[in-house]
Amino acid sequence: MASKNLLVVFGATGLQGGSVINSILGDPKAAAQFSIRAVTRNPSKPSAQALTANDKDPLRSVLQGAYAVFVVTNFWEKMNADAEIQQGKKCGRHLKGTSAQLSELNVQHLAWSSLLNVTKLSGGKLDKVLHFDSKATVEEYIRQIGIPASFFLPGFYMSNIPGRMMRLNPEGNVFMIGLPIPGTSPIPLLDTAADTGKFVKGILLNREKSLGKRFFGATDYYTPEQIVDDFKSVKPASGHGAKFSELPTAVFKGILASTGTSDALQEEMLQNMQLMPQFGYFGNESLTESQSILDEPLTSWKEFVAKAPVWADLK
Ligand SMILES: NC(=O)c1ccc[n+]([C@@H]2O[C@H](COP(=O)([O-])OP(=O)(O)OC[C@H]3O[C@@H](n4cnc5c(N)ncnc54)[C@H](OP(=O)(O)O)[C@@H]3O)[C@@H](O)[C@H]2O)c1
Repeated sequence: MASKNLLVVFGATGLQGGSVINSILGDPKAAAQFSIRAVTRNPSKPSAQALTANDKDPLRSVLQGAYAVFVVTNFWEKMNADAEIQQGKKCGRHLKGTSAQLSELNVQHLAWSSLLNVTKLSGGKLDKVLHFDSKATVEEYIRQIGIPASFFLPGFYMSNIPGRMMRLNPEGNVFMIGLPIPGTSPIPLLDTAADTGKFVKGILLNREKSLGKRFFGATDYYTPEQIVDDFKSVKPASGHGAKFSELPTAVFKGILASTGTSDALQEEMLQNMQLMPQFGYFGNESLTESQSILDEPLTSWKEFVAKAPVWADLK
């Protein structure tokens, strides 16, 4: 049997990295091509214990022998764009093999979890979406230093919605979703845990076709109105009367403030929302080309509603 190529997966205990591992191991064609080294800083996490690969190596040695690498950085851990940029660049420098210890590194393909530079896309109008800009800055760096790479841009997580953005309003006893954007705004939805890996698997299995390209990770663009209508159709009894409400910006920020969110982060979240109707989460790009590398269907919002654990008891 031919020897397998080593795929190193960062964020392996998280939604994106975990999905990559599940997709590769769950597909006989991909599993025959790749062995996986799952990276975590915390091997005692239950999700880390469920992983089979040796996950204790520090960055220096985890990249040894890698053919491909999936990297996701987590802005929310420190909520600091500079820290995220430094982390991403450090990983890029290691991959390039500039460090003496890693001169034998020969990574053929990096799949970097990226996002668009919103400051540039909006001509400076929306300049506070730092967790997008930081990932785009690292993407630019990776391109500059010439690592063979493809860029996976996750859409808006479907998992942000059940029980979080969309909840039962105790006053009217109806489900509500309130956002500071019109109900017709396009939101590219991704079932992150189930579908990130389908894209990244497609990227890795189609190296020549995908090098240098961006892949927009979403099932489709859904409007808030559609999100509510689909919820009602899957959960007709509980969903009866469910509504979308366009919130004034002060109300949206006030809700975030009541949960202890800083002023800076309130503005970041507001601009993150405004991005969608004003400039497009993916700059109004079509999803068709990105989806052309898939060999499995993506999860629709209706399917996600039907399987969401917090809504399991709803009829
Ligand atoms: N929510 C959305 O709608 C959305 C949309 C697009 C993009 N994103 C981006 O998705 C990213 C988070 O990815 P996720 O959802 O897969 O994360 P997640 O499920 O919250 O898990 C975070 C993962 O990142 C790893 N990690 C955190 N800090 C790390 C560090 N300093 N070094 C190495 N690994 C680190 C953790 O690993 P260990 O703790 O096991 O080491 C864990 O596996 C964020 O940057 C966010 O901006 C979110």
